Amino acid sequence: MKIPFNLPYITGKEISYMSEALSSGRQAGNYTFNKRVKDLFKQKYNLQGVFLTPSCTAALEMGALLANIQPGDEVIMPSFTFSSTANAVLIFGAKPVFCEVRASDMNIDVNRIEELITSKTKMIIPIDYAGVPCDIEEIMQIAKKHDLIVMQDCAQSYGSMYKGEISGKRAHIACYSFHDTKNFSCGEGGAIVVNKTEWRERASYIMEKGTDRNKVIKGLQSKYSWIEKGSSYLLSDILAGMLLAQLEEEEEIKQKRKSIYDLYLNELKKYEDNGYFTIQHLEEDKVSNYHCFWLIFNSNERRELFVDKMEIEGISAYTSYIPLHSSKMGLKLGYIKEDLPLTEDLASRLVRLPLYPDLTSAEIKHIIKTIKETLGKNFKV
Ligand SMILES: Cc1ncc(COP(=O)(O)O)c(C=O)c1O
Repeated sequence: MKIPFNLPYITGKEISYMSEALSSGRQAGNYTFNKRVKDLFKQKYNLQGVFLTPSCTAALEMGALLANIQPGDEVIMPSFTFSSTANAVLIFGAKPVFCEVRASDMNIDVNRIEELITSKTKMIIPIDYAGVPCDIEEIMQIAKKHDLIVMQDCAQSYGSMYKGEISGKRAHIACYSFHDTKNFSCGEGGAIVVNKTEWRERASYIMEKGTDRNKVIKGLQSKYSWIEKGSSYLLSDILAGMLLAQLEEEEEIKQKRKSIYDLYLNELKKYEDNGYFTIQHLEEDKVSNYHCFWLIFNSNERRELFVDKMEIEGISAYTSYIPLHSSKMGLKLGYIKEDLPLTEDLASRLVRLPLYPDLTSAEIKHIIKTIKETLGKNFKV
């Protein structure tokens, strides 16, 4: 039996929406399906100031432009994240300042942010690792006190909830991913949500190559011109059609993921209680979109042994990010492993289990049986 780490889910409605977009006569960004997706964001989560982008990477870059990130600025973020979080500010000459994560959810440790703030700090970019919301309320309080911008990297957390609102609603800017490794996918895609009302008009120029073309599409004027720094940050309406099909089934997709997550939790909790590993922790005021299920073993050797045993049984268990500060690029930029010992240690012990809607019960049984056998044979505590 071969079980991949992830498989994108198809609802069945994608082709019909995509062919409707194809035959509509307009396939660029900001047409019918872009609008339908934005309407859905608004109706379901009261998200406004939404712009669909070709990726979360593009959304983060657009957010950095919007925040006017300049050479010499410092931007605080966890090191345990994807390259795009750091690249978004590095390409504008700013310096990523890496903050430790905490073991309970692998999100930025809010208690360690303030010690990193200097006169050069301009922005904080927390992420929602594994779909679990970061402590955005505390982060916004710190940002207010020091007059900083918060751009939340919600690449993994579309549909996760924080204190009754979708994760991303409370930050100044939030960026989502609809890449095919995420819960809801259009192959490659993303969105930026500009919660700061006064930034929305400029955002509409930035995404349209620095022009006011949006006003022509809305019929407000007949000609557009160059008025701002910008780039091409639009999602084609064909892909917006695919995304709409996925988002219309959000609850069903989440439910399927939750049932697999709960099965893992029920079967593996007793091993956590017996000290084999720790499992991600979800606080009461947070609801996950069940993007992933992870374990942290008590040594890197055990994690590696576990991954190897899974591989022998055809199961792809994934070891997640190499912390950015100790990645090849991080070392080239002058960071050293010892900068963030906690992140370094946790990342070396973490492993993610396969989790996607089409995982069959036979496959889940095989995974759980293999885990139990592996733990029994190799991990006596
Ligand atoms: C935290 C984080 N930010 C950004 C991205 C990039 O997303 P995309 O592939 O949509 O550009 C990812 C991708 O996995 C991610 O995990």
